[in-house]
Amino acid sequence: MNSPVKSEKVLRVGMLGCGVVGSETARLLVANADDLSARSGARLELVRIAVRDTTIDRPGIPAHLFTTDSRSIVEDPSIDLVIEVMGGIEPAHQLILDAMKNGKAVVTANKALLAKHGGELFHASDAADVDFYYEAAVAGAIPILRPLAESLVGDHVERVMGIINGTTNYILTKMDETGATFESALAEAQALGYAEADPTADVEAFDAAAKAAILAGLAFHTDVTDKDVYREGITKITADDVAVAKEMGFALKLLAIAEVNEDESLTIRVHPTLIPRTHPLAAVRESFNAVFVQCESAGELMFYGRGAGGTPTASAVLGDLVAVARNRIEGSLGPTETDYAHLKIASIDKTSTRYSIRMDVQDIPGVLASVANVFAANDVSILTVRQDGRGPDAELIVMTHLAKESALAATVKQLSSLNTVKQVTSVIRVEGTI
Ligand code: HSE
Repeated sequence: MNSPVKSEKVLRVGMLGCGVVGSETARLLVANADDLSARSGARLELVRIAVRDTTIDRPGIPAHLFTTDSRSIVEDPSIDLVIEVMGGIEPAHQLILDAMKNGKAVVTANKALLAKHGGELFHASDAADVDFYYEAAVAGAIPILRPLAESLVGDHVERVMGIINGTTNYILTKMDETGATFESALAEAQALGYAEADPTADVEAFDAAAKAAILAGLAFHTDVTDKDVYREGITKITADDVAVAKEMGFALKLLAIAEVNEDESLTIRVHPTLIPRTHPLAAVRESFNAVFVQCESAGELMFYGRGAGGTPTASAVLGDLVAVARNRIEGSLGPTETDYAHLKIASIDKTSTRYSIRMDVQDIPGVLASVANVFAANDVSILTVRQDGRGPDAELIVMTHLAKESALAATVKQLSSLNTVKQVTSVIRVEGTI
């Protein structure tokens, strides 16, 4: 076996931002310098880190590296590689564009930026002949973007379905396993540091929608932005929704789903979803992430791991850094994004899905018939009906076959206006049958 050889070649690395991911990336880059150099073929020298406040103590990172001047990184001709971990849209967007124009390879973990300006950034890296890698932007440590862009590029992806937000998966796991309400599970997630003080980005699924856009763009060779993603969060999910799902053999997960419709259009959606407890994604607990990919030839694959956190995400950033360093040493470039398919993005109305509809109804003759008529009138076929009597009222749970989303939505609207239906208590989409 070869022993690590200290290379004469040096690649100078600048970093933009030094928060949770950045500080772990910098610490590991310094601590594992010999291994990373041996694997890259060049010494990776971290020369400057741009931060807002240079006075914060960041253990394991030499203090002399810090500057408040981010332009001193993107404009320094001696810097070869730039890691962007500052997050947000501006100034990260402009700094990355400028770094590329100045010939630097860029590695980023910035999902929000990629979901808004991915197309522009891919074209800019092509135009500048530099690498642009972003494995850490989706599902943290899990290698999923390079498998889609490289390992599976000879196949035909049919569907991507993932749990790509750890905070909501933690909350839903607690609701499932302890019977907790959404509010108490969220408070627990906040106490453990999984959820932010303002949890909107996670619980309203903005974070998952950004990641879904990036995954869909890669899997289906189409320019996709977060505006193309249908989004529904988990704030309306009740302890009853989760308990009833469990009784019926389902787990409730926040799933991101990207798939091609019958007319070859692409629909990307993120919403609470019931999946059979036997599905591999149902076994993904707590803050773990997983992405389930269905391919024409490879069949079903699942990628599982830590989707967030300093060191897991730093692992993905450093993997990209070594890859771009190798390319640079060889004078080559990694694969570029392709949007040749230009699939039309279709709204969720065009997709086919299945609903589980829970409603409180009067327990009198003819109620079931009146409810069934609404389904029939909208050409929605019923798969199962479950009724629990409770004195003069009953709870009815109807699970449908696959139907057009627009027909399902119309069905729910009409059910709500029936005299026999007191209220529709919940409507949750379903994937897979038991
Ligand atoms: N807040 C995200 C999550 C991690 O809970 O998965 C960063 O994308």
